[in-house]
Amino acid sequence: MNKVNMPVKIGSKLVKNRSTYAPTVKFGWTDTSGIPTERFARHYEDRAKGGTGLIVVEATCVSPTGRLAPSQLGLWDDVQIDGHRAIAEACHKHGAVVLVQIHHGGYNTHPECGPSKGPSSVTWREHQTEAFTHEEITAIRGQFIEAAERAKKAGYDGVQLHACHGYLINQFVSPAFNTRADEYGGSTENRGRFGCEIIRGIHKACGSDFIVSARTTGAEPTLDEAWSIADAYIDAGVDYLQVSSGIGPEEINYPEGLPYNSIVWTGTQMHCHVKGRVPVSVVNGILKPEHARYLIDNGLADTIDSARALLADPKWTMAVTEGEDYVRCRNCKVCFWSPFMPHKCPAVAERHKNDPDCVDFAG
Ligand SMILES: Cc1cc2nc3c(=O)[nH]c(=O)nc-3n(C[C@H](O)[C@H](O)[C@H](O)COP(=O)(O)O)c2cc1C
Repeated sequence: MNKVNMPVKIGSKLVKNRSTYAPTVKFGWTDTSGIPTERFARHYEDRAKGGTGLIVVEATCVSPTGRLAPSQLGLWDDVQIDGHRAIAEACHKHGAVVLVQIHHGGYNTHPECGPSKGPSSVTWREHQTEAFTHEEITAIRGQFIEAAERAKKAGYDGVQLHACHGYLINQFVSPAFNTRADEYGGSTENRGRFGCEIIRGIHKACGSDFIVSARTTGAEPTLDEAWSIADAYIDAGVDYLQVSSGIGPEEINYPEGLPYNSIVWTGTQMHCHVKGRVPVSVVNGILKPEHARYLIDNGLADTIDSARALLADPKWTMAVTEGEDYVRCRNCKVCFWSPFMPHKCPAVAERHKNDPDCVDFAG
């Protein structure tokens, strides 16, 4: 059997192949209620129908005051559960395992949603932030756990902590942007404490069968430190790691001539460090089926995480696993600068010509 088609055990679930859908926010598909509309269920169902083994539903906020945009999905209120149930059921119908990414913007909170607050009072992207008090940290940890409980009620197989890309959990991990002097700052152990407490709290509240994943950083600011944080997450009970970028460093000194980029490389190094304790996924710029297969066939990762390739074509997984034809992501990066991706993505526009009902197209 082709290695990308080999099932992989993630927590309590058997995922049917090695192709996973990375989280991708779709701002503007709902209103300020944060309730998923039917459009989300159709979007994720298309990726499940296309054979994707595991789907991570996009960054979903645990608190209205931690949102990245006013129209971000939420799991801070019970009224949001039914919309999420529709997503989970739509994916399960086609045999996908489905997690939802739980998120808090911290310093990156949208000004219409809340103050720019995180672990410390620092200069962040040219503005001054405020530090959360100890009581506020305890409350936000509780919001992550309550969001996971709602995710379980909605029928998701688990949650993923958004612990990379400079958001709240990553801000705690970063020595540059966490200058606390209490048990949440200083040593690597202390900086990883917030994430670990959330992981333990979710397993306690939702049971050990409920998958807890972390999307963590491959270098923060060094590979060694990122590995120590990942070790702490694994000790706390994390079931699955997806490795992406964090806040720092600016440059990674990585070997030249590899058929993948530095972010994927940090993922392969994490995979090597973790040594099978939990499955590890790599991401970034894997836009050709042969690249995805190369990483799996050579034992460099356990799963391949795709965002733009699966935005461009919900059947991308079939290209990876069966060699079928697919609509290519042009790597134009328009979607990176506009999370309203479907408005401008040329691949989606191409697809829309053949499929006028294409849910991703917005005119
Ligand atoms: C439109 C868009 C939305 C994204 N939203 C999220 C998100 O909600 N959570 C997250 O961790 N990463 C998010 N990302 C990052 C992707 O998951 C992924 O790491 C990145 O696009 C690189 O992978 P790719 O080359 O396969 O696209 C987003 C990326 C794009 C293009």
